[in-house]
Amino acid sequence: MKFNGKVKIVNKQQLQEDIFQLTVEKPSEIDVISPGHFFNLMATTSGSPLLRRPISVSNTTENSIEFTIKVLGKGTEWLSQKRIGDYLEIMGPLGNGFDVNDKMEKVLLLGGGIGVAPIKGLLAHLTNKNIKCDSIIGFRDQPIFVEEFKTFSEYNEIISEKDTNYKLGYVTEYFEKIVKSNNYDAIYACGPEAMLKSLVKVSEGMGLRLQLLMENKMACGIGACLVCTCKVKQGDFDYKHVRMCKEGPMFYSDEVIFDED
Ligand code: FES
Repeated sequence: MKFNGKVKIVNKQQLQEDIFQLTVEKPSEIDVISPGHFFNLMATTSGSPLLRRPISVSNTTENSIEFTIKVLGKGTEWLSQKRIGDYLEIMGPLGNGFDVNDKMEKVLLLGGGIGVAPIKGLLAHLTNKNIKCDSIIGFRDQPIFVEEFKTFSEYNEIISEKDTNYKLGYVTEYFEKIVKSNNYDAIYACGPEAMLKSLVKVSEGMGLRLQLLMENKMACGIGACLVCTCKVKQGDFDYKHVRMCKEGPMFYSDEVIFDED
C-alpha cells in the first residue's frame, strides 16, 4: 500500500561532501518495499508537487527506510539541511522495481555512482534470501558502500576512474570478463546512462538480458513532467514512449532503446 504523509528522520549520515543518508521511520501502512522501488520526497516547504524528488530506497528494515541522496540541485540541497528528529513528507513506494525470483542461486550486481544505492538495497534483500551475489561497483572518484559490498558479495570489484586506491577503469570492462566465466541467474544494473548503454552493448553480443534500473533522468517522479520518457520496443519493428517513473524504472535491456550519441 502507498503511503503519503510525514515520517520522522531517525538517522542521518554524511557519506561524502555531497552524499548523505536519511533514515526515516517506516510507516505501518506500508506492507512491502521491493528492491528498486523509490519514494517521492518533498524537497520544499511550499508543497509544490514538482518540488518532490524521486529517491530510491537504499535499505529497509522492519521499522525503517534508508535513502542515500546526492546533492544535485535546490531540492536535494534542501533535503541535505534536514536533521535527526525533523519530519519529512514522503510518498511511496513507487515504480516497478527489480524482478527477484526465490529460486535464483547466483546473480551479478552492477552499480555506478549514486546508482549503487538501490543496488545496495538489492544486495541486502538477496543475501537475506541466501542468493549468492557477485558485484562490480564503479565510481568517478571515491567509492561509497565499500564495506557493505565487500562483506556481502561472494566476489566483488570496486573500481574508480580516479582514486588510485582502487582498480582504475570502468564497470563494463570488468563485467565483460566476469560474465564469460560465470553463469548468472540474473544480472542487475543501475548507474549513469553511459554505463548502462555500454553494458547493454556488451551484453547484446553475449546474448545476456539485464535488468536496468533507469532512474537517472527522473525529475518529478509522479508522471507529470515527462522529462523521464524513453523509447521501448513494441513488437519487432515498432516502439513507444514510456515514462521511466511510471512504467519503470526497471526495464529489461532488450526492451529499451537508448538515444544515439
Ligand atoms: Fe516527471 Fe517521470 S519524472 S514524468
